[in-house]
Amino acid sequence: MEEQAKKKVMLSGIQPSGDLHLGNYLGAIKNWSARAEEFDCYYFMADLHTITVRQNPADLRRRTLEQLAQYIACGLDPKKNTLFIQSHVPEHTQLGWVLNCYTMFGELSRMTQFKDKSAKHKDNINGGLFTYPALMAADILLYQPDYVPVGEDQKQHVELTRNIVQRFNGIYGDVFKMPEPYIPKAGARVMGLTAPDSKMSKSIPEGCVFLMEKPEDIQRKFKRAVTDSDTERCVRYDLEHKPGVANLMSIYSAVTGRSYEEIEREFDGQGYGAFKPAVGDAVIETLRPIREEAERILKDKAYLEQVYRAGAEKASYVAGKTLRKVYKKVGFVAL
Ligand code: TYM
Repeated sequence: MEEQAKKKVMLSGIQPSGDLHLGNYLGAIKNWSARAEEFDCYYFMADLHTITVRQNPADLRRRTLEQLAQYIACGLDPKKNTLFIQSHVPEHTQLGWVLNCYTMFGELSRMTQFKDKSAKHKDNINGGLFTYPALMAADILLYQPDYVPVGEDQKQHVELTRNIVQRFNGIYGDVFKMPEPYIPKAGARVMGLTAPDSKMSKSIPEGCVFLMEKPEDIQRKFKRAVTDSDTERCVRYDLEHKPGVANLMSIYSAVTGRSYEEIEREFDGQGYGAFKPAVGDAVIETLRPIREEAERILKDKAYLEQVYRAGAEKASYVAGKTLRKVYKKVGFVAL
């Protein structure tokens, strides 16, 4: 317990709004799973965030549990990491409201995710979609983390959280610890396989590799990956002129640990015909044990329930302490 108290804290979450994909894995989860010994870790299913866009209730429930099974299968041992479902810990919405009042309209208006999602869902630009980053700040600050491991696209929200910390602490003293975004070197922004100018996302399934997908489907997607019309078909890292190849190289680098120079040497003179299936194979071998383990865990519903119950209890304990401190600072009468 003593030692636990001294460890640095890491926290992150993923929305169970779709099946987990290679971008989520390389941008976020892969970076989480190696850290359990070093850090006190909290990872959650961000279900409250998903309803900013309409969800099918049965699918949301199923995907939330599948995501938990996949977290565990990716190496997040529930004995060493606190794994929980966001809506099980009411402090998130409670602190979320408070932080809404310390987040500016102008700041929220500048958020890229809000601009993207409101363009995509024109018929449902709701208040939750707009104030989402204040809830995300609450998710983070309740646990006073040192690091928030996320992909590049979430950096802006973590930066906004830092602004909120500065504003709140500026008024009330040292209430929140200043969190740092923790972004991986390779895999921070995995692009779609069919459109390497936009990030890999579930909304374009042909260009998106899902963690639970069958090997033959994964290989087919890699073989069809968009490259370029370079007549030499040379495997070289050039983000500006060869974004498709650069994306495949960054995926290959993230799963094999090889540098871009090593990859260029490995495929020297071989062209895309050899390179694309090699990336597919490397991804398949990385995902195979995860898929098999997740399928096994998912059958044991009692185990999953035990994990999320224990996770919610531990998370609530920590989150409750921060919330009480905040309520006291802003002047609410304690019950
Ligand atoms: P979400 O659910 O969109 O994505 C989850 C994580 O996956 C990363 N990611 C990617 N990384 C690389 N390449 C991609 N193509 C790619 N697509 C997604 C994201 O950067 C993220 O790390 N608001 C968050 C969820 C959240 C959260 C939090 C995260 C809610 N509260 C508190 C951290 C801390 C989101 O929508 O991520």
